[in-house]
Amino acid sequence: MTGKLNGRAALVIGGARGIGGGIARRFAAEGASICIADLEAEGESLASELGGFFRHTDISDPTEAEAVVAAVTDRFGRIDILVQNAGIYPWTLIENTSPEEWDRVLRVNLGGCFLATRAAVKPMKAAGYGRILMTSSITGPRVTSPGHGHYSASKAGINGFIRAAALEFAGYGITVNGIEPGNILTEGMKAHRSAAFIEDMKSAIPVGRMGTPEDIAAAATFLASGEASFITGTTLVVDGGQILPEGNDFRLEPG
Ligand SMILES: NC(=O)c1ccc[n+]([C@@H]2O[C@H](COP(=O)([O-])OP(=O)(O)OC[C@H]3O[C@@H](n4cnc5c(N)ncnc54)[C@H](O)[C@@H]3O)[C@@H](O)[C@H]2O)c1
Repeated sequence: MTGKLNGRAALVIGGARGIGGGIARRFAAEGASICIADLEAEGESLASELGGFFRHTDISDPTEAEAVVAAVTDRFGRIDILVQNAGIYPWTLIENTSPEEWDRVLRVNLGGCFLATRAAVKPMKAAGYGRILMTSSITGPRVTSPGHGHYSASKAGINGFIRAAALEFAGYGITVNGIEPGNILTEGMKAHRSAAFIEDMKSAIPVGRMGTPEDIAAAATFLASGEASFITGTTLVVDGGQILPEGNDFRLEPG
């Protein structure tokens, strides 16, 4: 690795496993100090492996959002990079979705972005520097499928929030961007989606494979680095070409 994040302090929310775990590992390898915030205590062993620290956090709770940012600034004296990656993706058709389930998905996925950003922006403004990243999705902003009503609304909402936050903070050295992953094989994906769904998604990806947390971590590292200082208010699609085809018959085999 090239030390792209040397000396930076990073908070990775939803960093215990999956995409967030991949981002935390890569950021540490690039020289950042890491705090992993998550509901799952498995984040504790990853944080200590990376020489950082773990904080149990429900990012949908305003008090916990403030507390985790305070813990980072207490420990590291700064917060340079915020990654709000925590997200949930229950599969439920709209007519079967309870108002409670709708609220929970919106509160974690979209509300978590608002609460984490609101907490982190104060110390970032004071320092005159910040990189805020949010994990959106191709599902919602670009494409969708049945059973993803609440999830799609939450992720499309994140993209709107990214633009608004980027504009508000542009004069303070703070950039705000997002990543729209395609289908990434993670613990959450295996737990919440059937093997048939995963096979179907694989066949819909032009590059011919599912994505990995490392694919997303590479994009996150770029957006969190000094090289991306002129990029703000946008999202990067990392999907192996999944949103490109007009129809199902898109394969041209080499030769
Ligand atoms: N896997 C994919 O194909 C895919 C595609 C597009 C977008 N995403 C998004 O990427 C993110 C990570 O997905 P993943 O597949 O790695 O999921 P995952 O379930 O493997 O990991 C998500 C992590 O977030 C944590 N988390 C959940 N709710 C939380 C809360 N309220 N507070 C703090 N932490 C919380 C979980 O405990 C878990 O460690 C999510 O936002 C998801 O919507 C995933």
